[in-house]
Amino acid sequence: MIIGVPKETRPGERRVGLVPASLAKLSKAGHQVVVESGAGVEAGFLDEAYLQKGARVASRDEVFRAADLIVQVLGYGANPEAGEGDLRLLRPGQGLIGFLDPLGAPGRAAALAATGVTSFAMELMPRITRAQSMDALSSMATISGYKAVLLAAEQLPKMFPMMMTAAGTVLAARVFIVGAGVAGLQAIATAKRLGAAVQAYDVRPAVKEQVESVGAKFVELEVQAAQAETKGGYAAAQDESFYRRQRELLARVVSQSDVVITTAAVPGKRAPVLVTGEMVAAMAPGSVIVDLAAERGGNCELTRPGETVVEHGVTILGPVNLPATVPMHASQMYASNVSAFLLHLVKDGKLRLEEDDQIVKETLVTRDGAVVHAQVQPAGTA
Ligand code: NAI
Repeated sequence: MIIGVPKETRPGERRVGLVPASLAKLSKAGHQVVVESGAGVEAGFLDEAYLQKGARVASRDEVFRAADLIVQVLGYGANPEAGEGDLRLLRPGQGLIGFLDPLGAPGRAAALAATGVTSFAMELMPRITRAQSMDALSSMATISGYKAVLLAAEQLPKMFPMMMTAAGTVLAARVFIVGAGVAGLQAIATAKRLGAAVQAYDVRPAVKEQVESVGAKFVELEVQAAQAETKGGYAAAQDESFYRRQRELLARVVSQSDVVITTAAVPGKRAPVLVTGEMVAAMAPGSVIVDLAAERGGNCELTRPGETVVEHGVTILGPVNLPATVPMHASQMYASNVSAFLLHLVKDGKLRLEEDDQIVKETLVTRDGAVVHAQVQPAGTA
């Protein structure tokens, strides 16, 4: 099969779908790769590196024309404006793999379907053991958790570690992580390595042990969800009275923290508001909040996605797409996830679309001109 890797086009995106090191495995399986000239430059991978690994380098049009399967990081859907131009380049029967945000933008999934492309959304990868090597959401969340701590450390007018020096003793910064999923656990580990005193909280009591294993103190709140976790291991949505009680109890811990990093998300829903404006006002001036849920509405009431704001003397960061700020490793990890998926999907030069394969069933969004995913309902939405 010929695999095409176009340059990413969403503003600020610096990752690339495949890296040179990922090509050996693919060519061993009989695949050829054609890369758009300059596709990897911003991630540190020059055209020559792809050429050395046996890829062909071509124009964007030629990549789309030659490829049986296109690999993108952000395909149309996840790249709404600039990505629209790809629609005229895609053709019936061609494969497409990438983040496509089909649940957030079902109308765009319908537009993809209209091109006749067979598309797979990386964010819908089931979290089963067999698909662990293909789980790009987790690898990107790891990077976000790490980078969130660096951003906080950079903004904080204090140092993270405790230091005993001839100039006196400075105390360790107090870092509080809300939401201890993949990003939260990585944030804990990173803050810990920088020497902070770290606490964490999650609505799912099951993560207490994981929080402690990476060196943080687990904060117990006197509020318990009737059902904290869904079958898939994700947080279940709670009612407003639960979130209100949670905020009351979180207020004390938040006000005593120098840094608060929030990562709380509920799949398919707006992120819950866990830090109100009032709670921000109670924090010490110079404190920092990094809201990793900014793109999904934010865990802090005062967050503005993509911006840094100062309110009540507290710096609030709402970063979007942190993985793109660590493009070399993010591309390497994404390429590894996508290659594993690709090798699973393609047999004898053809896409294997067996409906009884959970990996195919849950990631396949469009096929033969239609949206075929049960959870993606394009009617009336864009
Ligand atoms: P996520 O990004 O969807 O959410 C982040 C965290 O926020 C979760 O831990 C969630 O419980 C928490 N949260 C939601 N509402 C909250 C609230 N009101 N207050 C406090 N915390 C709240 O989560 P992520 O990182 O995708 O992980 C979700 C689960 O999936 C975890 O159990 C993780 O271990 C599991 N997982 C399983 C994998 C596999 O089996 N292959 C791979 C990756 C994750």
